[in-house]
Amino acid sequence: MSQIAQEVSIDLGERSYSIAIGSDLMGNTASYECLPRARTALIVSNSTVAPLYASALRAALAGRYAQIHELQLPDGEEFKNWETLQLIFDALLSNGCDRKTVIFALGGGVVGDMTGFAAASYMRGVPFVQVPTTLLAQVDSSVGGKTAINHPLGKNMIGAFYQPQLVVCDLAVLDTLPKREFSAGLAEVIKYGPISDMAFFDWLERNMDALIAHDRDALAHAVRRSCEIKAWVVGQDEKETGLRAILNFGHTFGHAIEAGMGYGVWLHGEGVGAGMVMAAELSRRLGLVDNGFVARLNLLIQRAGLPTKGAVLDAADNAGRYLELMRVDKKSEAGEIRFVLIDGPGKAMVRSAPDDLVREVIDACCA
Ligand code: NAD
Ligand code: GLY
Repeated sequence: MSQIAQEVSIDLGERSYSIAIGSDLMGNTASYECLPRARTALIVSNSTVAPLYASALRAALAGRYAQIHELQLPDGEEFKNWETLQLIFDALLSNGCDRKTVIFALGGGVVGDMTGFAAASYMRGVPFVQVPTTLLAQVDSSVGGKTAINHPLGKNMIGAFYQPQLVVCDLAVLDTLPKREFSAGLAEVIKYGPISDMAFFDWLERNMDALIAHDRDALAHAVRRSCEIKAWVVGQDEKETGLRAILNFGHTFGHAIEAGMGYGVWLHGEGVGAGMVMAAELSRRLGLVDNGFVARLNLLIQRAGLPTKGAVLDAADNAGRYLELMRVDKKSEAGEIRFVLIDGPGKAMVRSAPDDLVREVIDACCA
């Protein structure tokens, strides 16, 4: 039974598009009516998600495209690289896909980021659609046009800004998501509160149990509000010349955790959760927020089922390794690390901090 979808618009002039949010949207033909007609479509998914959902997506698209090809990528952050990207180009070329071919990214953020990058570069750009199947992808990665692969020396270092034509967030597919992955997605939901909307943070405190129980109304609100905030930020600063950096709250530490532990050891959302605690603690030590705020954030992240401590990297000098990894963050300027800090609850700022203070925070949060 299909539910009426809620819609959030991303306002980017001729690159504007809609995010549809609701239950049972993925397998519904009506969800794709706004898309351009084409001879071929390619569904890119992975070895976990394709067996669950590719046939339903294919059935919904059958009337629109004469040929629908499918590609299953290996599953895992460790495969978010050149070699796997090449598999998408191989599929596009060997199936005679042309400039009008529509590519569908069916999966979490890894599939979405790689497929988006392939769409941005195949024949210098073909239309693509995000059908995110993780909570993290529905509230963050499928929206806003950041696409990328990892490099062994840094996370998401090779990529492009390339907007999809449509995002279809089907809440029903979250029912098969492993609990750990669901919690990882909650980290990206939580981040929107401290950076821009403390009323949403209050709502999350009241509704965390309902979210964990996959209550559909609670999920619809969390996904919609997250997408609205992201749409508002991206609408003002698509290419991250300033404001958009606030969406990286927790990510400077978080990316160091992912790269320093080895991609896939801690999930992206787990790194972001622990990273938000570190960034909040750094904000506190810089006098920007009080202890009460840090404690509230810490508790909410724990209630989401996420680790808040213990992100120790594989190095003799743990804090030194963090600093080394964070210097290659995309926000760094001339080797100076720039952190997204909370400048009072609900307001974010980007600035540097003394290495000694950052070391103290890392030592305190990794203990
Ligand atoms: P993911 O894509 O690895 O998916 C997590 C796991 O869940 C995978 O094993 C996947 O196969 C499985 N899965 C997906 N949907 C499922 C479902 N419905 N049922 C059962 N299993 C399912 O991880 P993710 O957390 O979705 O995304 C993380 C990635 O997103 C990272 O690479 C991160 O860098 C990227 N990211 C990008 C942006 C952006 O703006 N582009 C923002 C945030 C994160
Ligand atoms: N996930 C951060 C961004 O999209 O800018």
